Amino acid sequence: MFKKLDILDEKDKLLRQTSKEVTFPLSKEDKKIIQQIIDHLTYSQIEEYEEKYDLRPGMGLAFPQLGLLKRIIVVVYEYNEGKFDNYVIINPTIVSNSKELIAAEAGEGCLSVNREVEGHVPRFARVTIEGFDEDGNKIRVRAREDLSIAFQHEIDHLNGILFYDKINKNKPFFNEHEMRLI
Ligand code: NI
Repeated sequence: MFKKLDILDEKDKLLRQTSKEVTFPLSKEDKKIIQQIIDHLTYSQIEEYEEKYDLRPGMGLAFPQLGLLKRIIVVVYEYNEGKFDNYVIINPTIVSNSKELIAAEAGEGCLSVNREVEGHVPRFARVTIEGFDEDGNKIRVRAREDLSIAFQHEIDHLNGILFYDKINKNKPFFNEHEMRLI
C-alpha cells in the first residue's frame, strides 16, 4: 500500500537542527520509513502517480524532513526514462570533492519548501561520499552533475541547512563564464 509522506515545511524548526549519527542494526521502523521514502520519491517522478496522489516531484529526501533527526538520506535518481536508481546513505560524509563548482540553472527545489526560490546554489561538480548502507556495510559513492547536487542538498539537511541559505543575496545569479550551469 502506498503511503504519501508527511513532509515538514521550511517553517518547522526541526529542519534547522543537526541530525544524529545512526547506530546499527537499523530499527525495523527506520527500514520501513526508508522504503516509504523510496516509494514516495519514485511515484513523485512518474506522472501517472504524481497526479493520482497529488505529489510534488522530488528526487531526494532526508530523515529530518520527516521530523526524524537521524543522518539518513535517500535519493531516487531517474537515470533513463522510467528507470530509477535508489541511493540510501546512512551517516554520509563527503570525503572528497572537485574544485569545480556548478549550479542548477533553474535553481533548486525542496519538498520542504513550498514556494519558488530563485537563484543559483553553488555546488561541487563531483563528490565522493562515504557512509553505510541499510545493513551497516561501509559504502562509497561517486557522483557528478545533478546527482552530485542532489547528494549535497540532502547532506545539508542533516546539518540544518536549506538550499537557499547558500544563494548569495547580493548576487543570486551567475553567468556561464562565472560558473558552469547545468
Ligand atoms: Ni530538500
